[in-house]
Amino acid sequence: MKAKKLFLSVLPAVAVMSLSLTANSQTFKIEYEHPDASQIVKKDIPPGPTLYAVPDNCKLDNPKFIAKKAKEGMKIFNNKKLANCVACHNAPGSVGAGNIGPDLTGYASTLMKAPGPRGEKKTPDWVFQRVADYRVQIPKEFRDPHSPQFVPYYNIMTVNLTTKALNYDQVCAVTAFLLSLK
Ligand code: HEC
Repeated sequence: MKAKKLFLSVLPAVAVMSLSLTANSQTFKIEYEHPDASQIVKKDIPPGPTLYAVPDNCKLDNPKFIAKKAKEGMKIFNNKKLANCVACHNAPGSVGAGNIGPDLTGYASTLMKAPGPRGEKKTPDWVFQRVADYRVQIPKEFRDPHSPQFVPYYNIMTVNLTTKALNYDQVCAVTAFLLSLK
């Protein structure tokens, strides 16, 4: 009885295996449909985590600059064709916001006051880097799926400057917007 059951359960597996073997012997070759596709695929792999300096014209220590630039930043934050921060975060002015990331309402006086993942103090430069390319801020072991310390939560946010989804000026504006949220 037992042997029969085992045989029956193994049989489909064997059948599937031989099927795929036959399929393999017909020599399938994976080819890119477009001659330049391999280059396009390479381009799609985002460059590694990159550390950025805040440009001189991005005066994140100047409250007047922040107030002015924040308006632009709010638009970028909510622009689904640009940064689309609103897909994951709520913030003042957001409509239909997602909740994959924390609510950023009052960010500068709440979450920004909490230490970063390495226990570091969050500064305007830190927030700029966060928006530009957060990957340098999160310890590798938190982001490596093979590590026991892997935290999926730390691996979802979009990278904006390194991928050129946003330029320096746009990252500056979004950062100003976050700093204006008190
Ligand atoms: C695909 C979802 C997703 C998108 C899009 C996204 N974020 Fe996030 N964000 C997250 C998640 C998840 C966290 C919390 C985990 C973490 O800190 O990495 C987070 C954290 C943050 C934080 C908190 C950092 C801290 O600890 O102080 C800020 C600020 C932030 N995001 C800003 C933005 C901005 C600005 C954009 C758009 C340029 C954006 N996010 C786009 C998912 C997203």
